[in-house]
Amino acid sequence: MNAVKTSKLVKEFNGLVAVNGIDLEIKKGELFSLLGPNGAGKTTTINMLCCLLKPTSGTASILGHDIIKNPFKVKDLIGVSPQDTILSKHLNCWENLSLMGEIHRLESKELKKKSEELLETMGLTERARDQVSKFSGGMRRRLSIAMALVHDPEVVFLDEPTLGLDPQARRAVWEYIAELKGKKTILLTTHYMEEADCLSDRIGIIDEGKIVALGTSEELKRNHLDSQSLIISAENFGTKVIENLRGKYSVVEKINGGLKISHKDLDFKEVIDYLYSQGVNIYSAASEQPTLENVFIQITGKRLRD
Ligand SMILES: Nc1ncnc2c1ncn2[C@@H]1O[C@H](COP(=O)(O)OP(=O)(O)OP(=O)(O)O)[C@@H](O)[C@H]1O
Ligand SMILES: [Mg+2]
Repeated sequence: MNAVKTSKLVKEFNGLVAVNGIDLEIKKGELFSLLGPNGAGKTTTINMLCCLLKPTSGTASILGHDIIKNPFKVKDLIGVSPQDTILSKHLNCWENLSLMGEIHRLESKELKKKSEELLETMGLTERARDQVSKFSGGMRRRLSIAMALVHDPEVVFLDEPTLGLDPQARRAVWEYIAELKGKKTILLTTHYMEEADCLSDRIGIIDEGKIVALGTSEELKRNHLDSQSLIISAENFGTKVIENLRGKYSVVEKINGGLKISHKDLDFKEVIDYLYSQGVNIYSAASEQPTLENVFIQITGKRLRD
């Protein structure tokens, strides 16, 4: 059984199609990332799966339970860390966690144990008794993630879990998410390519309400990048050499101390042989590793905010 399954899921807001027929199957224990530009429909998708928004059409289920017919069951099975952190600012950190545990009817002993564990992981133990109104943005995000996990849900939705965190805090959260891998089903959205790359089992690129590419990071790079790049550190190449290269390869850029050449099925040896034949001094040549960001830009034509 899939942990998350959607079929032709659509959400319209007064004629604006925010989610435009999403078909998604996320296996139990899988970590799936939704990557997409601003307004792509990531949060709207998550909000429907969490029963916070009613789909305009289509269906979805969590562990076999329909989100429209059985929202109470679904809510028991899921944990959510929303994009806009929702915390009770007049309560302290511990009280916020307790409140969430009580909503999910956790026994007090279990709640205490789980809260202590999560506060430790999220680096909040020392601040457990401080009022949340005094927390920084990053501390609020970390508490929000802890709140999504306190009742040990089977499916966890993390909407931009590390947005606004400093690099150290982000890495700490990554480590914790990585620890959850395989134990929980996780659907996360992120704008950090590195985050999607290092954490996800599979990635869905979403644009204008549609999944436009789907696969592992390797599959996306392999299937969607149709050119290879060679970075050459070299000296002594004239405008004629550049002109000739530009006549043959799709992208030839002069970069600091050399050249970058990109082309579909680029024959590296052919490039090097040509440069040698023209008396160019070559110091090094390396193929550029394809990145998820290249894939994303190629597919959506947009650069993510970061
Ligand atoms: N409650 C709403 N009423 C009207 N329009 C909405 C509402 N919620 C979202 N939208 C619109 O739906 C589209 C998708 O928004 P959504 O928040 O799902 O995008 P997102 O992919 O999460 O973007 P971001 O990366 O900025 O968080 C946007 O055009 C947005 O303005
Ligand atoms: Mg969003």
